[in-house]
Amino acid sequence: MTEPLCRIQDLADPGSKGLEVELDGVRTEIFIVRRGQAVYAYRNSCPHTGGPLDWKPDEYLDGDGEYIMCATHAALFQIEDGLCIGGPCKRQHLTPVPLRVEGDAVYLA
Ligand code: FES
Repeated sequence: MTEPLCRIQDLADPGSKGLEVELDGVRTEIFIVRRGQAVYAYRNSCPHTGGPLDWKPDEYLDGDGEYIMCATHAALFQIEDGLCIGGPCKRQHLTPVPLRVEGDAVYLA
């Protein structure tokens, strides 16, 4: 039985959490964002430089929890599709990581 990555109720709303998972056989940093009962995941790699987005562990959102924010140059990304709407990588996307939700449990798809 595969263990879930997390449970929705364990994330703040809105909130985010960083994880390391195996994708295509490679250990990869990702993060999960919760908004309401929806969850989204992306690779922890900014399209601007490829660096990580978090400004401290598990913190990937701006002050209002409206957008994902890169800690390095403050690019803002839409939570639901990872589109950059402001910053040096405007109109580029974060790389999504497909999830599967069963009840409250969140798994890699
Ligand atoms: S590294 Fe993310 S905005 Fe520059």
